[in-house]
Amino acid sequence: MSESLIEGPEAEASLVSARGLDKRFGLTRALQGVEFSARAGEIHAVLGENGAGKSTLMKILAGVIRPDAGELSLGGEAYQPNDPAAAQRAGVAIVHQEPQLCEHLTVSENMSLGAEQTRGGLLDRRAMEQHARRALQELLPDAEAMSIRPEQLLAELGPGPRQLVAIARALASADCRVLILDEPTSSLARSDVEHLFAALRRLRERGLCIVYISHFLEEVMRIADRYTVLRDGAAVGLGEVADATLDEWIRLMVGRDVRDLYPRSEHQSGEVALELDDVWTGAGGPAPLTLRRGEVLGIAGLVGAGRTELLRAVFGLDGVRRGQIRVGAYAGPASPAIRLNQGVGMLSEDRQAEGLAATMSIRDNIILSKLRAFVWPRRARREATRWIEKLDIACRDPDQRVGELSGGNQQKVALARLLRHDVDVLLLDEPTRGIDVASRAQIYGLIDDLASRGRAVLMVSSYLPELFGVCDRIAVMCRGRLGVARPVADLDPESVLHEAAVAS
Ligand SMILES: Nc1ncnc2c1ncn2[C@@H]1O[C@H](COP(=O)(O)OP(=O)(O)OP(=O)(O)O)[C@@H](O)[C@H]1O
Ligand SMILES: [Mg+2]
Repeated sequence: MSESLIEGPEAEASLVSARGLDKRFGLTRALQGVEFSARAGEIHAVLGENGAGKSTLMKILAGVIRPDAGELSLGGEAYQPNDPAAAQRAGVAIVHQEPQLCEHLTVSENMSLGAEQTRGGLLDRRAMEQHARRALQELLPDAEAMSIRPEQLLAELGPGPRQLVAIARALASADCRVLILDEPTSSLARSDVEHLFAALRRLRERGLCIVYISHFLEEVMRIADRYTVLRDGAAVGLGEVADATLDEWIRLMVGRDVRDLYPRSEHQSGEVALELDDVWTGAGGPAPLTLRRGEVLGIAGLVGAGRTELLRAVFGLDGVRRGQIRVGAYAGPASPAIRLNQGVGMLSEDRQAEGLAATMSIRDNIILSKLRAFVWPRRARREATRWIEKLDIACRDPDQRVGELSGGNQQKVALARLLRHDVDVLLLDEPTRGIDVASRAQIYGLIDDLASRGRAVLMVSSYLPELFGVCDRIAVMCRGRLGVARPVADLDPESVLHEAAVAS
């Protein structure tokens, strides 16, 4: 982008800005000459494909990493944070893509981490709880309504309240002027998204500058005032959200038109591949279900409804409390090894805990899935390269460590590993979380293709447009109980949302 984009009036109006930012990681040029400018009292969205450089830019603004070249300014003065603490003192706080909170600590302990209050050398629990209560109340006047209590263990909270705790913690530090949120809604339920948005609007009223990264473009349309689009480490667009269209954003992000977001072909549903009979998991039940070859069946529901528990039980990761799971004609005991042998594979929701080995290469992560089989290194490399191309994984080469990839690209590696198994029944838990719009279209195409070749797909998603775009039938889960799967043609998003929120 030419420098003119943030000169003149834009430069004067801006609270935080960057110019000419460069950042390399080894051979990867994550940022090249990035220009950025956001104002006080606005929600500024940062858009871009996986690996475009969004998180890198934010980490630089928040003092987590340092640029190789370029300048930052904050409130009209040069700004050069050497570490996150320096950024916080200057008023810039960040909530990372995967916020670091401690499950075994309480809400108030989490909020005081690093800034513990002591009295006579002892932790002052009362002061910490008061501090937490005040910070939560400032963010959410109805924090009690969401039942977030300072003395509660974090492990007791769902993803939505946790996200709000992370934000409250960021805000409570020093005098926050710029709040950076890196994909804050990727694991939130609808109702929690609304809580978050209400909180963000209040912060905007108070004059905060909120920088907001998200792949949910429809949400960005609703919440943001202005936007910057990054592509290949450079800013390629800056504008008012009110003047923008989804198509225009996608064109800017991808550099071309994405015509068909949800490619769909004829699916012939065949024999029963998976049958659940009166199944109860730890999250409740019953969950009856019949999945046929050649179909994509979606499970909608709120976060915490028990959808992940159900997929885990089917894959043999957890036991069932009652009922029977049949794969083909087999109804015996289950374990992941048995399931894999039966041709059932699973893409876990939590790629960090169960999915990938961050310190291993992309190649090993993709190829090692067929555990005992030896693969010649040359062949492994060739095959990994093929998957990298097929899923458009942004990386240097197959030997790059998975931990170095951007969030969305890590998810693609996990997906490649599953697809490589060429299983008959795929269990997909939030398969496109954190994945950009063009890659999502690609993944939907792959799912469609699998179904048209007679595979059976059971897919959990909290993103309704995707369930409606991809699935043949959708069933709704509410508090562990699974409703009847109905053809998408007979459903509409409102009724699905309603069913998800109200136990019948
Ligand atoms: N620590 C690192 N070491 C090596 N490469 C890195 C590192 N951090 C980021 N990169 C690379 O820099 C580029 C930009 O990554 P970044 O995380 O900023 O992307 P992003 O826009 O946030 O993507 P996503 O939407 O997937 O989160 C990517 O190619 C990524 O692989
Ligand atoms: Mg990122």
